[in-house]
Amino acid sequence: TSENDFTGKKLYNYQGSWYYPNTIQAILNFQKHFRPRDSDIILASLPKSGTTWLKALVFAVVHRNKYAPNLVSHPLLSNNPHNLVRFLEVDLYVKNQCPGLEELPSPRIFATHVPFQKLHESLRDSPCKVVYVCRNIKDALVSRWHFRSKIVSNYLLEDMINEYIKGAYFFGPIEEQILSYWKESLVNSNLVLFMRYEEMIEKPVAQVMRLADFLGCSFSEEEKQSGMVEKILELCSLGNLSNLEANKIGTSTCGIAHHAFFRKGGVGDWKNHLTDEMARKLDEMVEKKLKVQG
Ligand code: A3P
Repeated sequence: TSENDFTGKKLYNYQGSWYYPNTIQAILNFQKHFRPRDSDIILASLPKSGTTWLKALVFAVVHRNKYAPNLVSHPLLSNNPHNLVRFLEVDLYVKNQCPGLEELPSPRIFATHVPFQKLHESLRDSPCKVVYVCRNIKDALVSRWHFRSKIVSNYLLEDMINEYIKGAYFFGPIEEQILSYWKESLVNSNLVLFMRYEEMIEKPVAQVMRLADFLGCSFSEEEKQSGMVEKILELCSLGNLSNLEANKIGTSTCGIAHHAFFRKGGVGDWKNHLTDEMARKLDEMVEKKLKVQG
């Protein structure tokens, strides 16, 4: 089955989710050629859920010792996070059947928007780590609407809401993706860490320490005393990243302008855009689709 996307391009349903044909090919390439390493880290999310932030934080946490104590000359100061942590299916494997990942130094960090089932077999019981970030659907939808409005003029929020309810959009529907990671995090908490954008905004220090614990590189007492967690948070903050020259110009390796990943951030911007009726429809959809059985 196929559907037109918001620009008229064809999307196809592949095993329950919607993709462009080249993404399906990239997923197949990944499944055939990817060889996991025990130290691999894979970051997963739905678009507009805090992927850029998670990429920056994980990169900064994992590589902090190289740039300690003050994180000067840190790669995040001169590179967009998406070029440091590349997407498997919309960047690496879409460009190349075998993108040469064997040559990368450990620990390798990758990102993906595909459901957990698509990764699962390729990870082949490797003790690698998967971090998922989930964001309130209404905020993620409004964020995606802003993002798409730059591509298509007069793009209506109403159309986007109907699309979400139907589920046929790039990387939709939400339940295929969110529930796959959520369920896995419950049964296999060593493999999948489920994070929430809202909790990261509310308690950033605690969430970054949780992230480091999960990744096996907990902050030492000395690091905590020296304010390392706060320094990482400042480096990766929306204000800091969006003001860097490296993020104002240019296009990331996944083909999107660097600046397009940064807007307002935070929690609850949906209230400035959605009518009560729109919010009600979306709440109803989330209730229906994400109700975890049992
Ligand atoms: P808004 O459009 O609501 O501002 P993704 O990275 O998954 O594409 O998500 C983009 C959303 O995350 C945008 O949300 C963007 O502003 C926000 N974002 C980007 N970098 C961030 C950061 N360092 N901290 C917090 N939010 C960030």
